[in-house]
Amino acid sequence: MYQIITTQLWPAVGASVIALLFVTRFLVKQTKGSLPPGPRGWPIIGNIFDIPNEYPWKVYRQWGRDFKTDIVTLRLPGPPLLVLNSAKSAEDLLVKRSAIYSDRPRMVMLNDLIHADRNLALMPYGERFKAARKLFNKHIDVPYARPQAIVAARKLLKDLILGSEHHDPLIRLMTGRFILNSGYGIDVDSHDDPYIEISDFYQILDSFPILKHWPSSFPGAEFKRFAAQIAKISDLARTLPFAFTQDQMAKGTARPSFATKFLQSMPENITHKEIGEVQDIIGNMYIAGTDTTVLAMRTFVLAMALYPEVQKKGQQVVDTVLGGRLPDFNDFGKIPYIDAIVNEVLRWRPPLPISIPHSATEDDYYEGIFIPKGTMLVANICAILQDEAIYGSDTERFLPERFLTDHGEINKNLSSDAAFGYGRRQCPGKVMAKELMWISVVSILATFDIYLPMDEHGTPLEPTVDYGPIGNLNYPPFFNCVIVPRSSQAKSWIEDYNEDN
Ligand code: HEM
Repeated sequence: MYQIITTQLWPAVGASVIALLFVTRFLVKQTKGSLPPGPRGWPIIGNIFDIPNEYPWKVYRQWGRDFKTDIVTLRLPGPPLLVLNSAKSAEDLLVKRSAIYSDRPRMVMLNDLIHADRNLALMPYGERFKAARKLFNKHIDVPYARPQAIVAARKLLKDLILGSEHHDPLIRLMTGRFILNSGYGIDVDSHDDPYIEISDFYQILDSFPILKHWPSSFPGAEFKRFAAQIAKISDLARTLPFAFTQDQMAKGTARPSFATKFLQSMPENITHKEIGEVQDIIGNMYIAGTDTTVLAMRTFVLAMALYPEVQKKGQQVVDTVLGGRLPDFNDFGKIPYIDAIVNEVLRWRPPLPISIPHSATEDDYYEGIFIPKGTMLVANICAILQDEAIYGSDTERFLPERFLTDHGEINKNLSSDAAFGYGRRQCPGKVMAKELMWISVVSILATFDIYLPMDEHGTPLEPTVDYGPIGNLNYPPFFNCVIVPRSSQAKSWIEDYNEDN
């Protein structure tokens, strides 16, 4: 009997359920409108097997072209995923309607594992998030960190004189040094310093296709292992350096930093919970700010080696303004070609090719489409920054001039800010990251020449400046350019620099 039910009844039940789903979907379409086009997918499971394992930003852009749409839909068993391939759709939805599209999707069951509630980038939208962003904006004060940005850039120059054949870890040391110094007053001198190693977050992210697992409510052991690693690293990143500053403050030897500034401005009766929140905010800067900026600076070095004419022009404009000294922030905003280089670095190879997913907190309609509550939305940053209608032709070429007017001024109507995401979840470290990039770029151009290395026959070796399959800019590991001081005078400016002067 049981066998009859399973063999004869279940197929009929299954067929009825599928028919019901189609009818429901049809009725929903009739009453509410439909989602934008996307790959066909399967009943019930939708496009779960279509989510690309590799180079998703390229696949999404191609789908956009194939389906003639700038928003692509992937249907999933839960809420759908919309990929925004154009600046217009990202601005219309994530910026102009940011009251609706500023939540983050929940990874059911795993929020606790990865301590999402402490990590600003994953925190659900709501009062707690708004308070945390306010605290971040109030205390992570960019001009306050400028002296540390100068120190980090000049120490990088010194490090490059000593060991430029391995410049990649030196760039990591520079950004780590800046974040640890401005955040906590911690001085690091070597790239294998344990504080720097903790911040190497991307080595973990690199090995995990997060978007593929994000929609999943039933993650497997692989995800749990990944989540445990993330949780451990973010806990260490939050607590260790902060404990150092508290200890130094107790001894009266703390150097000024965001952590001391925060703690000194707190009332006497500050609670344990409030201290925890401050710790989380600075920890977020440490976790989110280091790797992204490293990737951008890596791109800069490789672009200079690959485009020597841009490097030459950059050196000329820097020499004209500096007239024989190292730069500082009095020069900021006075060298448009350098602002254009920084913009072009972020446009050419944005450190994150796809934004962190946003999610909709309400049903919404946009240009004839219906976007149900819970829908996940990602901005395809790479596709947006390669849009020839906005950035001009040949967007694969590194060409800072695209950001300049005919008079050589910065074109205020064009930016590469899409690299920092959109709306209320846009990167709060944008200004700080751009300033650190600016001082490092000017300092390097003022003092060093960068070349491609040669093989034994004198032929230049060229790196493929491309992403790894899941997003991290994965240039041939440690591709080393040749970096040499431009002159003995430049070398002596660097050697004469002393942080205490
Ligand atoms: C070149 C360097 C950087 C790039 C390209 C970058 C890019 C991004 C992007 C694309 C997002 C996601 C935005 C979205 O969801 O729409 C983000 C979020 C975030 N970034 Fe950055 N970032 C950089 C540097 C920094 C720095 C230096 C800091 C800290 C000082 C920082 C802190 C954060 C935080 C806390 C978030 C989460 C914001 C939220 O969810 O509300 N980032 N960043």
